[in-house]
Amino acid sequence: MKTHDYSKYASNYADLGMTGSYYMAFKDIPFLLEEYANNDAKVLDYGCGAGRSLRFIRDLGYKDIAGVDISQDMINEAKRLDRMGKYQLIENSIIPYDDNTFDIIFMSYVFLEVGNIDDIIKILNEFKRVLKENGHIIFITSIVKNIKDKWISFSYDFEENNKPLNHCQNLKLLIKDKNIILHDYNWTEYEYEYAIKKANLKIDKVHIPMGYDNEKYEWLSEKSIPYNYIYVLHK
Ligand SMILES: C[S@@+](CC[C@H](N)C(=O)[O-])C[C@H]1O[C@@H](n2cnc3c(N)ncnc32)[C@H](O)[C@@H]1O
Repeated sequence: MKTHDYSKYASNYADLGMTGSYYMAFKDIPFLLEEYANNDAKVLDYGCGAGRSLRFIRDLGYKDIAGVDISQDMINEAKRLDRMGKYQLIENSIIPYDDNTFDIIFMSYVFLEVGNIDDIIKILNEFKRVLKENGHIIFITSIVKNIKDKWISFSYDFEENNKPLNHCQNLKLLIKDKNIILHDYNWTEYEYEYAIKKANLKIDKVHIPMGYDNEKYEWLSEKSIPYNYIYVLHK
């Protein structure tokens, strides 16, 4: 199943900022990156989309950063917004870089668009190939436990979703600010752990950012229910 029609949504997506639930997902990324890499690190943003995540990381001081994506529409948007940025298309599932190239592979909200566990394992194996021996993979994903939970930026409250959540269920999702409808695969922690193990990678930590009262948003379920999961992996 096609989760997103980026030929239609690439330019809307290019407008997405780092506000609301996205702020929550990315707010601890500066500290995590700092823990695992210095500013000279070679960084890959896998599934960079319209470049939002790449620009976020580059603005933290990581200058040697490249983006790759399977969508030519998204790569076009990324290049339009950032003419000097390095963005490349992934063809035939191969990351267009040599073995042992990167200190950090970053990825945000990509596994939600992959509908098969074997494909997730293949992507992780490809990460292993281009990752340096002492490198780290940092990826953000979201896991929904109850479609009725209330998020400030997203809603899953659709009739179609109204059945018991099971493995890899495809969930209809509204990005409220942009009125974009998506269909994401809802992998569980169990499945991520399975895929990571199958790819012979190790989990360094799983960080779950939460919303707090002293922040600039009126959080809803973000204050009490885990939603964004940040996995840090190594070889
Ligand atoms: C939700 S967007 C996230 C973009 C960006 N990381 C961000 O946070 O703004 C997901 C991106 O993953 C890309 N994608 C989906 N499946 C992919 C795959 N198997 N390999 C690489 N990129 C993929 C899509 O084309 C899309 O640009």
